[in-house]
Amino acid sequence: MRSYTLIAPAKINLHLEIIGDRPDGYHELVMILQSIDLADEIHLEASDNQAISVRCPHPEVPIDNSNIAYKAAELMAAEFPNAFARYGGVNITINKRIPVAAGLAGGSTNAAAVLVGIDLLWKLGLTQSELEELGAQLGSDVPFCVAGGTAIATGRGEQLSALPSLDNIYIVLGKYRSLAVSTPWAYKTYRQQFGDSYLKDTDSLSARAAAIHSGPIVKAILNKDATQIAQKLHNDLERVVLPAHPQVLQLRETFASAGVLGTMMSGSGPSVFAICDSQQQAEKVKLQVRETLADDDLELFVARMTSHGVQVASSM
Ligand code: C5P
Repeated sequence: MRSYTLIAPAKINLHLEIIGDRPDGYHELVMILQSIDLADEIHLEASDNQAISVRCPHPEVPIDNSNIAYKAAELMAAEFPNAFARYGGVNITINKRIPVAAGLAGGSTNAAAVLVGIDLLWKLGLTQSELEELGAQLGSDVPFCVAGGTAIATGRGEQLSALPSLDNIYIVLGKYRSLAVSTPWAYKTYRQQFGDSYLKDTDSLSARAAAIHSGPIVKAILNKDATQIAQKLHNDLERVVLPAHPQVLQLRETFASAGVLGTMMSGSGPSVFAICDSQQQAEKVKLQVRETLADDDLELFVARMTSHGVQVASSM
């Protein structure tokens, strides 16, 4: 049976700004998304029947059709019924390294890998933008996860504008294993508390979305200046997640006092990352934070910003 092994990187948000409501119930966002080399490995194997299956030893990852990777395979089968009939179903194995429900797009990147892998298994020859359009039907972060790198994301998060990629910038990432934040909860709470300040008319929304292109963080990214990037990090969702989860605030403060260039929660959290000026500093900060907080529930990773999204590691 033909098979592909794909690398599916996580993302962090260098910028997350909530600017308004959308008629579809989602939020209008202005974000800067960045791939990191902390990645899951997805193995896709053609099956000899018309079934889709998901295997994943991680206890918090569902293996039924509620898994977004499963949904990605279902979507491909529905969109390309002839290829599905010809090549059969697919067995998906997920080797999970990205923390779950952490604001790191762990599920979205698995879905992106399934789209990319099935395109190859079924010899569909889809373009990157066709894959991104399919991804947008699965989740707001899936289109970004296909190509990855560094990008401005607007609309629901699915409208992408690539920036020159950043690499060789190291981060330390922390996540309490037992702590999970629901993304719908974070956005709903934000709307309840800060909805009054949302921009209402389309012109103001477009102007705000356009402003990011000439904003200070984009300038810092164009200069590949880690210090400046770290000083301009922004995430509106910290306003609701940090007060609700003092542990996350404490983690953020511990990073800040370890002398990093800058620190911020990623997405809807609860993971927190800190930008460091070298790999050595990142390793040192990781040890220091481990010692200060001394909590076995806290997972810490050193990761590097990377210029790519889903990649094929091997095929048979
Ligand atoms: O698109 P995705 O399924 O990843 O979004 C998860 C949840 O996050 C949505 O159900 C919604 O509550 C919230 N969300 C939002 N506005 C966005 C993206 C996500 O309100 N632009």
